[in-house]
Amino acid sequence: MSKPVILTGLRANNQLHLGNYLGALLPIVKLQKQYAGQYQINLFVPDLHSFTTPIDHSKLYEQSLNNIRLFIAAGLDIKDQDTYIYRQSFVPAHSELTVILNSFTYMGELSRMTQFKEKGSGQSSVSVGLFDYPVLMAADILLYGAKYVPVGADQTQHVELARDIAIRFNNKFGDIFVLPEAEKQQIEFAHSTNRLRIKDLQDPSKKMSKSAGSDKGIIFLGDDPEVARKKILSATTDSFGEIAYDHETRPGISNLMDILSALSGTPLADVQQKYQGLSQYGEFKKDVADAVVNFLKDFNNKLQAVDDQLCLDKISQSEKEVNQLANQTLAKAQKAVGLRQ
Ligand code: TYM
Repeated sequence: MSKPVILTGLRANNQLHLGNYLGALLPIVKLQKQYAGQYQINLFVPDLHSFTTPIDHSKLYEQSLNNIRLFIAAGLDIKDQDTYIYRQSFVPAHSELTVILNSFTYMGELSRMTQFKEKGSGQSSVSVGLFDYPVLMAADILLYGAKYVPVGADQTQHVELARDIAIRFNNKFGDIFVLPEAEKQQIEFAHSTNRLRIKDLQDPSKKMSKSAGSDKGIIFLGDDPEVARKKILSATTDSFGEIAYDHETRPGISNLMDILSALSGTPLADVQQKYQGLSQYGEFKKDVADAVVNFLKDFNNKLQAVDDQLCLDKISQSEKEVNQLANQTLAKAQKAVGLRQ
């Protein structure tokens, strides 16, 4: 019997940052280790998804490959037989299933997606690609029957939409798709209390995101470690004069605690206990900065050591295999809607 699937994807249209690393890359690497032999892991670059907002197309191909190097630098075991690493556009079934699912998804649902509202707001024109991308994402997930989809908090709504579309389709046509687990089970599976949302260091009311006006609040994975140190040391905190963890009233300090906990692998409760009530914000920030600097140095060493040929071989092998897997599900959906007999 085939193994249950854990799947995630990271777009290639910008430099990845600490939010991407902690929200998606690190969780899937941990899950791969934790559940070795029990689950199939699908890690892919949603390259078609990467130009739903304008990009420099001359860099897309290379950036897609570079994203895959990042997975490996983050600790993914490339030799694991149950792990597939691939690019979305190299598996045409993703696009085909999207067209089918479009007719079972409502304009109202897509208009309510927070990401669409945020990315589309203030733009003079918004592409249909941006509007429709949650359906492409549903196809990414449903083609492989993925049960678990480790993503950051900003993508939860899309995973839930994939589940809703699958339920609707199955209600009409029978058991075609495996359902992704509901949010509560997803969180339990990852042994966490919630999905992670790393905030902008300068404006901790917003998530860390490349679309922020300035780079000062973002730690890029390619940042010079000393530049990153300065960004942490000048992060916005608060003027309470006493360290405490509370995202409502102290988003800046709480964000730094989240970062320290995730990078050092120390449970959040222990980080809280260590610093709670202290008045030395500077000391605390220095500890966070050290953790970030150490992480970046280590990560970049690992990135330099990635064996490109091994990486390319893995991708081409995976792309062969996942095309077969994806086509099996696509064929079921095509049959269900009457396109095939
Ligand atoms: P993308 O490329 O914007 O982000 C990649 C992953 O990084 C997470 N992330 C964050 N996590 C915590 N804090 C942050 N500040 C932060 N910023 C980003 C995202 O939640 C995501 O997990 N639609 C997806 C890509 C995608 C996908 C999929 C993911 C396409 N198809 C199928 C899973 C399954 C996206 O645009 O993520």
